[in-house]
Amino acid sequence: MKRIYLDNAATTPVDEEVINLMSSTLKEMYGNPSSIHQEGRKVRTIIEEARKTIANCINASIGEVFFTSCGTESNNMILKNAINDLGVKRFISSKIEHHCVLHTLQAIESNDVQVEYVNLMDDGSIDYNHLEELLGNTDSKTLVTLMHANNELGNLLDLEKVSALCQVHNAYFHTDTVQTMGYYPIDLTKVKINFLAGSAHKFHGPKGVGFVYINNDNQISPYIHGGSQERNMRSGTENVAGIVGMALALKKALIDNKSRRSTIEELKNYTILSLKKKIPNVSFNGNLEFQHYKILSISLPPNPKTDMLIFNMDINGIAVSGGSACSSGVESASHVLSNVYPDSDYKTIRISFSHNNTKEEIDLFIEMLKKSI
Ligand SMILES: Cc1ncc(COP(=O)(O)O)c(C=O)c1O
Repeated sequence: MKRIYLDNAATTPVDEEVINLMSSTLKEMYGNPSSIHQEGRKVRTIIEEARKTIANCINASIGEVFFTSCGTESNNMILKNAINDLGVKRFISSKIEHHCVLHTLQAIESNDVQVEYVNLMDDGSIDYNHLEELLGNTDSKTLVTLMHANNELGNLLDLEKVSALCQVHNAYFHTDTVQTMGYYPIDLTKVKINFLAGSAHKFHGPKGVGFVYINNDNQISPYIHGGSQERNMRSGTENVAGIVGMALALKKALIDNKSRRSTIEELKNYTILSLKKKIPNVSFNGNLEFQHYKILSISLPPNPKTDMLIFNMDINGIAVSGGSACSSGVESASHVLSNVYPDSDYKTIRISFSHNNTKEEIDLFIEMLKKSI
């Protein structure tokens, strides 16, 4: 049975060209980039080329890009170091951030470090008036951490607006761009962001590699101590194949951005229309007007059969998600849905598209969904 993969917000299949580049890198570029002989120097060169590629993709300078193991590490690095290195005493975030931000904030909150959560609108969008109010009501050094797109609802953040508010109130701005990197071009010379995080596996690159952007104005101390790799910021012998694979994946995602985006947008619109036609009382979560084009969060009226929905879809060849990817492999209540829709007894499934999906796949998905409920 050919499987239908509609869980591209959890992770994406690795691009064929990326696989080929990574495999030749693993085979031929085995030198340690810290070694001074030819084998090492060749590898150092391709790492620095990859850094340049990533920096160009976001219009940053190469000194502002550091490789990490994933988006989780990038976000941890910034939030944890902001206290000691930047004197941050207050964080403003939202209750629907990814757990790698929320749990980090919970871990660093203390008598000296305050965490405040901005109110959400009914559809889970950020209440910008409340954000402004929070920013204005203290002199404590503040860092705002808000995700660019929510991984469950798809809701987008207005980066320009938040950036402007942070500048007025002299606050740092960190944004988790793990879901949007490679989908929404970001030009860091046009929008002032102090820190952002990216993860290769969300844009058809490999797992286990990510990057963090740290604006040159901000001095952050080393996060992992050791042999001084990544200009002493993040020691450990580099994941060379991962780094070059990530750079190629991001470059391709941006070069092909327009065509990938229009394919996915068409699929999403087609899905919404077909679902409305074929599934009675279906509804959609989040802010459909300002939403990541690859994410669609679908609500289905309560029905005993929906309890096993994800499982039933899976055994029938279709991969979708209940809300977010769960690290334990068990579907648990989503903190995003319970914060935004606390009283709802509807069943939510999230589907997320890639440019590899087709209308035929969507037809089969809807047919199966209809049968399953
Ligand atoms: C919004 C968001 N932030 C961070 C992460 C974590 O990224 P990684 O899997 O690279 O640690 C994810 C992954 O699902 C995500 O969706």
